[in-house]
Amino acid sequence: MNQLMTASYHIETIGCQMNVYDSERMADHIESMGYQRANAVDAADLVIMNTCAIREKAEQKVFSYLGRLAPLKRRHPELIIAVGGCVAQQEGERILSRMPHVDLVFGTHAIRNLAQHIETIRHKRRRIVDVAMDGGAILEAPNAASAALERPSRFVTIMQGCDNYCTYCVVPHVRGPEASRHPDDILEEIRTLAHSGVREVTLLGQNVNSYGLKEGMCSFAELLRRVDQVDGLQRIRFTTSHPKDLSDELIRCFSDLGKLCGHIHLPVQSGSDRTLKRMNRKYTRKDYLNIINRLRSTRPDIAVTSDFIVGFPGETEADFQDTLSLVERVQLDGMFAFKYSDRPSAPASRFPEKISEPVKKQRLQVLLDTQELITRKKHAALVGTRQEILVEGFSKATVADNPTEPRTTPPWTGRTPQNKIVHFSDGNGNGPALAISVGKLVWITIERAFSHSLWGRPVERELDMPSAKGDHSDAS
Ligand code: SAH
Ligand code: SF4
Ligand code: F3S
Repeated sequence: MNQLMTASYHIETIGCQMNVYDSERMADHIESMGYQRANAVDAADLVIMNTCAIREKAEQKVFSYLGRLAPLKRRHPELIIAVGGCVAQQEGERILSRMPHVDLVFGTHAIRNLAQHIETIRHKRRRIVDVAMDGGAILEAPNAASAALERPSRFVTIMQGCDNYCTYCVVPHVRGPEASRHPDDILEEIRTLAHSGVREVTLLGQNVNSYGLKEGMCSFAELLRRVDQVDGLQRIRFTTSHPKDLSDELIRCFSDLGKLCGHIHLPVQSGSDRTLKRMNRKYTRKDYLNIINRLRSTRPDIAVTSDFIVGFPGETEADFQDTLSLVERVQLDGMFAFKYSDRPSAPASRFPEKISEPVKKQRLQVLLDTQELITRKKHAALVGTRQEILVEGFSKATVADNPTEPRTTPPWTGRTPQNKIVHFSDGNGNGPALAISVGKLVWITIERAFSHSLWGRPVERELDMPSAKGDHSDAS
């Protein structure tokens, strides 16, 4: 393949963490062709948009972004525009007819063909659609060597697709059936990442709890036990867990594994059994409450977050009240809440009794307000405690977020094992700045609580105190 010494690329990613991971794979492929990352989209010779179809809004975002690329292409006809991800999979050919300036549409299983397609387009100026679903999404071993040292926390996709067919959801239709990667490949990727400085991995799947079961390879809990052994790695997270498949074996990992963070994202979607049934979620409100009790008795400090959909077709005020009472009862650490959005390939789009937009909007607001009070209360309870933070970089938080903070240096940011965002500065204004750098574990005393983050100060002389074996940081 010709090496392109000066060509540059830009990847625009929307959607979930899996898309973030996939975009990294796309970058690996095109960098191996000689493309370099562009400083800005209008300086690029190749623009890839990695898309999301989960709600109508996400899809609209794709088409408005692509629309804005048309004048760029007129000014720079050599520009190659490629559309990948879930909207590409869903729309295929239709993207080419709707967007005459797009050169390539490649689906969720076609990432490994990306370089070859780009090469063909460069030489033959042909338009290509590749939306075959042949399982090629994760069969290749990704090039983990591209791990950037400045990003100590990385995603690792352990499975593709979904077999659950929740009635509102587009994912099984655009990502295909569930399939798990071989544990040895996953372990190899994580070892390479850890070796190049990565300290935390988040294992990704639409439902990690059913990892490996179909293939009879190994259970998710067994995989976690193996990942826990990786030298140099300090923290393990995973997402997403489906409540129906959360095993006792997995719950035990929260007490047994030193590197497993005390946080679980466990989407419930609704607190009404009637709605859960019509969503095809296969658990009840009581099952969910029961799981939360088991998790908390195994790991008392575990943080629990969840996803909710309001305004599912047929959702009555009483159903919504059931959701609110579940939220009050569980006392979650945080939530993502969405207004139900019709997806044409999902059966709920044909369910009667659609909920009006104003009602959806009002329910969403009430739900978010209810959670906000709970989150604030939980955050306030952390003031005065010491928390272990993995330093991820400089904070974007502004002085306005915390006007009393002495601003000798830009504030750092990182997360607690419970996934709470903490900002802190490395000096107290009176003495030399303490040695903090990206990728270190530091102990912070929490001093102030906000609704989305916490502010704190390093615990003196306890910097870089590791929580687990295998600390490879270079603290002196
Ligand atoms: N596999 C994960 C989540 C996938 S999508 C799981 O099972 O939980 C992320 C979230 O988007 C879902 O949890 C759900 O809350 C929301 N979502 C999915 N489809 C939606 C739709 N049609 N309308 C609104 N929200 C939706
Ligand atoms: Fe969608 Fe349900 Fe699969 Fe999650 S488990 S991806 S919500 S079908
Ligand atoms: Fe969106 Fe596809 Fe993820 S639809 S949420 S990018 S799996």
